[in-house]
Amino acid sequence: MAKFLVQKSDPLHGEVNISGAKNAVLPLMAAAILPEDVCTISDVPELRDVRVMKEILSSLGLRLSEIDKNVLEIDASGLNNYIANYELVRKMRASFLVMGPLLARTGKARVHLPGGCTIGARPIDLHLKGFKALGAEVVLKDNYVETTAPAGGLIGNSIYLDFPSVGATENIMMAAVLAKGSTYIINAAEEPEIVDLANFLNKMGARVKGAGTDQIKIEGVEKLHGASHTVIPDRIEAGTYMLAAAITRGEVLVHNVVPDHIRPITAKLRECGVDVEIGDDGMFVAGDRRELTSTDIKTLPYPGFPTDIQSPFMAFLTTVKGSSTVIETVFENRFMHVAELNRMGANIKIDGNRAKIQGAKKLEGAQVIATDLRAGAALAIAGLVAEGTTEISEIYHIERGYAHFIEKFRGLGANILKIDD
Ligand code: EPZ
Repeated sequence: MAKFLVQKSDPLHGEVNISGAKNAVLPLMAAAILPEDVCTISDVPELRDVRVMKEILSSLGLRLSEIDKNVLEIDASGLNNYIANYELVRKMRASFLVMGPLLARTGKARVHLPGGCTIGARPIDLHLKGFKALGAEVVLKDNYVETTAPAGGLIGNSIYLDFPSVGATENIMMAAVLAKGSTYIINAAEEPEIVDLANFLNKMGARVKGAGTDQIKIEGVEKLHGASHTVIPDRIEAGTYMLAAAITRGEVLVHNVVPDHIRPITAKLRECGVDVEIGDDGMFVAGDRRELTSTDIKTLPYPGFPTDIQSPFMAFLTTVKGSSTVIETVFENRFMHVAELNRMGANIKIDGNRAKIQGAKKLEGAQVIATDLRAGAALAIAGLVAEGTTEISEIYHIERGYAHFIEKFRGLGANILKIDD
């Protein structure tokens, strides 16, 4: 199995360009199912998950072509299948996002249950609650979810989300755009990726209002047409490189970031004494200005502190003076990286959904395992300051969500390389 070898590195210096957001491009690609037309998506990141979504869309009869670097054309006029099979869905949970657009466009959808992962059970009950509220029949059979719209099509309704689920908000929004009448999603997720999807849908002729707030109104329309759209920058990738600059006490200019999307990360880094300056051409991060100290983190749905940055931020907190507390409220099992960081000499104690981090630790290189893509990134940045070599296995997790991870880090002076067994 391939591994990353990370050596203790000098403070990172230089500039890095952030790619299009993984968690925006996947729903955008799913939304391209909706029009019997051609869509063009720019700033598509080169990720394993994007390749899987391409396979899924092709299996549904869509024609995809790379018409320029990071520019994907999706022709959905030839849609000829409403089934997303196990082989593809098991590779990536986000495949489940094709259910809403398939149901809206064809009146039927059959998608294998996405299953859980190391960070949690990842249920889909809120997605199904939304489809049922729109009048669809939902049947669970042979580990597939089969949804069928009423003969006259889906019917707008009001849906309360018990948790502001990102995926459920996206799936219901895409199902509702062609429904009869209006749909209200109450307690909707407010993430920037939701706004990006709503903007794309509206370019297709949909009528989505309120994205980015906790109430979204979708007025159903007869038909949609193709559209062109550019993916928003990846706020989690940006946060990861900002933390790499901070943990190595370096100075890095991070290009292609929307400052509003990373406000909690910026605020928390500043609380620790890291210099973060918002400039016209990016975020300048300096970790070498003063002694860095601890802070406390509590993950929350947007605009709260993002759960996806919890593990990289924890790696950084092991190196600053003082003790910190990290509370994870979004996923039930997102501390898998703690055992790995402790193997590197960190001193982190878990108590339920709380982790207590004793700071100012000298980390030691070790053989560690990436348990999810963000935990993998956390171990890589910890390896940059650990004595000796850190060998990270299961790195396919990292490659799912970080484009050109090795090249971007090496461009900042990191001693990191990939070895294939
Ligand atoms: C999206 O996952 C992201 N993935 C995740 O990023 C991110 O961590 C998460 O949102 C939260 O921000 C993509 O966008 C592809 P949720 P999603 O539905 O949609 C519960 C990464 O590292 N829930 O908001 O699956 C669920 O159990 C990944 O890039 C239900 O109870 O997240 C969880 O506790 C990891 N019922 C909470 O909501 C449901 O029907 C948040 O899940 C759906 C979710």
